[in-house]
Amino acid sequence: THHMSSGEAPEYKLVPLRGFSLISGIHSPEVVDQIQNFEIQDSDVFVITYPKSGTIWLQQILSLIEVKGDVTATINQLNSERVPWIELLDSRKQFVSAPSPRICVSHLPYKFMPVGLKQKKGKVIYVARNPKDVLVSYYHFHKYANMLETPKDFDTFFEKGKEGNVFGNCWFEHVKSWFSHKDEMNFLYITYEDMIKDLRSVVERITSFLARNLTSQQLNDVIEHSTFKNMKNNPQANYQQIPVILLNHQLGSFLRKGTVGDWKNYFTVAQNERFDRVYQQKMKDVPLSFIWDMNDLITP
Ligand code: A3P
Repeated sequence: THHMSSGEAPEYKLVPLRGFSLISGIHSPEVVDQIQNFEIQDSDVFVITYPKSGTIWLQQILSLIEVKGDVTATINQLNSERVPWIELLDSRKQFVSAPSPRICVSHLPYKFMPVGLKQKKGKVIYVARNPKDVLVSYYHFHKYANMLETPKDFDTFFEKGKEGNVFGNCWFEHVKSWFSHKDEMNFLYITYEDMIKDLRSVVERITSFLARNLTSQQLNDVIEHSTFKNMKNNPQANYQQIPVILLNHQLGSFLRKGTVGDWKNYFTVAQNERFDRVYQQKMKDVPLSFIWDMNDLITP
């Protein structure tokens, strides 16, 4: 576990709940077990991600869509408050009292979700990212997130990540559990790589899924303020104001690299072969494919 100079930091550790791991200090099993009873409204929107798949990006995009691209209308509230996590300790009160439309994010598996969502009330946007880049992004996140164990080195983290011994558990299970239930929900599936490739068309898919009408100029504004560079420089959007007790801002940042294929700078050939074998085995019956390399984004 991580030691903080202040001596005031809670002891964060992974605690099990029904086959999933929560982070003590920011989650509690009792709170998460209540989520299934949340009453869902048709206007509710749930953004679901495995960690490091672009959650913060969706928080920014959805914040901007709701104000039709007017970034000045978002500066008075952090995107993490505007589009909060459903599983955090104080989430219930926040969720119940939020004005409609209630837009939230979650890393939880399908089984913890409100019953209403599974009866086609509300809407779900699932964001997936290729698991090699997720693993690398998560490695860096562990180095500066105080609620997660600091990895000894990449090789150590590779083993943990591949086995799912992290918050979020197994990437394969997460994607598969959500995707296999998609017909029970109002469900939109998007990928991080599609957003890198063509943010505009993904934002258009989101606005049409949510039935929001934006002019072409408003869409331009949403996109403009959701670029990596502009988010990195935007204190409302970049998580720099998340307290040091959670994130050690000296050691990293949420907007780290924002690209496809960074895993090639970390995986050894042997690790890549091992990962590919696991991927092929776990995904053999799943009709999903991923983009693994920046070059594959450029269509001739
Ligand atoms: P990297 O660490 O690979 O840079 P999450 O919010 O789920 O934790 O995901 C964080 C990842 O999304 C980080 O990946 C971050 O850089 C990337 N990201 C966030 N906003 C982005 C944007 N506007 N453009 C590209 N990548 C973005």
